[in-house]
Amino acid sequence: MSAIVIALPGNEALAGVLAQHLKAGLGTAAIHRFPDEESLVRLDCDVSGRTIVLVASLDRPDPKFLPLLSAATTTRELGASKVGLIAPYLAYMRQDQRFHAGEAVTSRLFARQLSDVVDWLVTVDPHLHRVKALADIFSTPAIAVHAASLLARWIAEHVDRPVLIGPDRESEQWVSEVAAGARAPFLVLEKQRSGDFDVRVSLPDLDRYRDRTPVLVDDIISTGRTMVGALQHLAARGAKPAVCAGVHAVFAPGALEALRAAGAERIVTANTIAHETNGIDVAPLLADAARKLV
Ligand code: R5P
Repeated sequence: MSAIVIALPGNEALAGVLAQHLKAGLGTAAIHRFPDEESLVRLDCDVSGRTIVLVASLDRPDPKFLPLLSAATTTRELGASKVGLIAPYLAYMRQDQRFHAGEAVTSRLFARQLSDVVDWLVTVDPHLHRVKALADIFSTPAIAVHAASLLARWIAEHVDRPVLIGPDRESEQWVSEVAAGARAPFLVLEKQRSGDFDVRVSLPDLDRYRDRTPVLVDDIISTGRTMVGALQHLAARGAKPAVCAGVHAVFAPGALEALRAAGAERIVTANTIAHETNGIDVAPLLADAARKLV
């Protein structure tokens, strides 16, 4: 019997494409919100004996997380044989240590709770830093697929003579991979973040790449401050208009407008989070990984 792909609200488009790739049926999990903001999940299909693939991107996670736990638990209670989760964007991965006394290490507790309710997980480029692999925090099989080759292909096809600029030293390996795929040189910014919206970047010497189009690349565009800082330096140095390319289009309020106001000529993201800048399709990557686990 084939699997059923079930979309949590907001994930219907991607779930539809994934169901086609996986030759699976398609269902939804509706969420009723009560006046007191409690939520009630209702599955619209018979899951008994079936392999279920839940699709839920977890940007702005807090209102989505409890309904997801309810959907996964209910799916099991109603007799599904396996329950997997495709979460193209996995939240909370950045809070991977106690930076200040008394703080929660959210990445670990988030991973523990998900591991309790699903049999496997697939995601795209989780922001792993001090935690090196999903297996270090998830006790259930978890695959992270990488969008670097897709970003590289998009840049090679859409940008004339690019030079890539990555956000910080930590990202150098990732940026170099995208640059190699796009057959382009790369640089990385020096970055200091002292608050959610307080980011200072400095740009290395660009003179030898004056005739190239700067492409700012990052795994996450959130407040947009990293890219805005870089765009301001580029404008001050008279560089060509820049392109911004990101994997996860988190876009906090005002971020997109700020990028445009700072001179971004074009902004493109992957469809891990539905957004008007989506131009890079990760569905085939997600489906390939899920096929290994279904
Ligand atoms: C940080 O380590 C990430 O790679 C991104 O550079 C960061 O999340 C971007 O955030 P923002 O858009 O808020 O500057």
